[in-house]
Amino acid sequence: MTFAVTGASGQLGRLAIEKLKTLTGPENIVALARSPEKLSDMGVAARAFDYTKPEMLVPALQGVTVLALISSSDFNDRTGQHRNVIEAAKAAGVQRIVYTSITRADSSPLMIAQDHKETEKLLSASGLQVTVLRNGWYIENWTDSLKPSIQAGGMVGSVGAGRVSPATRKDYAEALAAAVAGAGHENQTYELGGDAFTLADMAAEVSAQTGQNIPYTSLPKDDYAGVLTSVGLPEPVAAFIADAEAGAANGWLLDESGALARLIGHAPTPMKQAVAAALA
Ligand SMILES: NC(=O)c1ccc[n+]([C@@H]2O[C@H](COP(=O)([O-])OP(=O)(O)OC[C@H]3O[C@@H](n4cnc5c(N)ncnc54)[C@H](OP(=O)(O)O)[C@@H]3O)[C@@H](O)[C@H]2O)c1
Repeated sequence: MTFAVTGASGQLGRLAIEKLKTLTGPENIVALARSPEKLSDMGVAARAFDYTKPEMLVPALQGVTVLALISSSDFNDRTGQHRNVIEAAKAAGVQRIVYTSITRADSSPLMIAQDHKETEKLLSASGLQVTVLRNGWYIENWTDSLKPSIQAGGMVGSVGAGRVSPATRKDYAEALAAAVAGAGHENQTYELGGDAFTLADMAAEVSAQTGQNIPYTSLPKDDYAGVLTSVGLPEPVAAFIADAEAGAANGWLLDESGALARLIGHAPTPMKQAVAAALA
């Protein structure tokens, strides 16, 4: 069996390949990336793979049994990019695709979920075996901005009192590796998330760990998008993030299925630990 991972130069892809190397020999792994030279340190075969260049996809997938399709970070016709990969996988004889989606993609109103919903439909119609990992929010989406938030005297967002269940990229990467190399995941959809908490809970944890009073203030989504653009995010990205947070206020980034813990064989990283790592 040969296992290939797209987006291998990205943060999730790298972590997934590291985990995959503990589950199978490196000779069974192919890392796929737009710039394979970025992967020279990974100790596995690397092939050039650009979702927007259909002509290079079928040759790059020769001999691949299971393909991990990490969703593109390029929002320009993301569904079309994924369609190119799915069609190439069929043509190359790939048996199964493991796709990284988002929480309840089939019904989610989040702007960010719409490409995932369309991609899941393409996968269902492809005739290939499919495993869908509906990843929740990365906890790093919040912890990466803790230091500037502390400097500013508080955390802001749009999640209100909504409960969320983010997990670390490392935990999602372990789940991806397990779903790729493990048995029994054919035609399964898993909702994945870590422990549930509110952003006020995270602010309280930050306060406890720093000894400072760091409150969480929830803003209307347009105001929060304005805050994000004021610190340099492009407007479309700010709009997507603020929309996702406003959706999270209504539970759209919450999963309590326990599937992540079952897939990775241990409890997901606790929020307290993720906060401590970000503050270190
Ligand atoms: N659930 C969440 O909270 C959350 C948050 C952020 C992102 N995401 C999604 O999860 C994915 C993985 O996350 P991440 O943290 O690993 O993101 P990342 O570090 O930004 O990596 C994205 C990967 O996508 C690759 N890519 C972009 N356009 C491509 C194309 N046309 N053809 C082939 N590869 C392409 C990038 O390749 P290059 O190295 O060549 O740029 C990179 O390897 C993201 O792409 C995004 O869809 C989810």
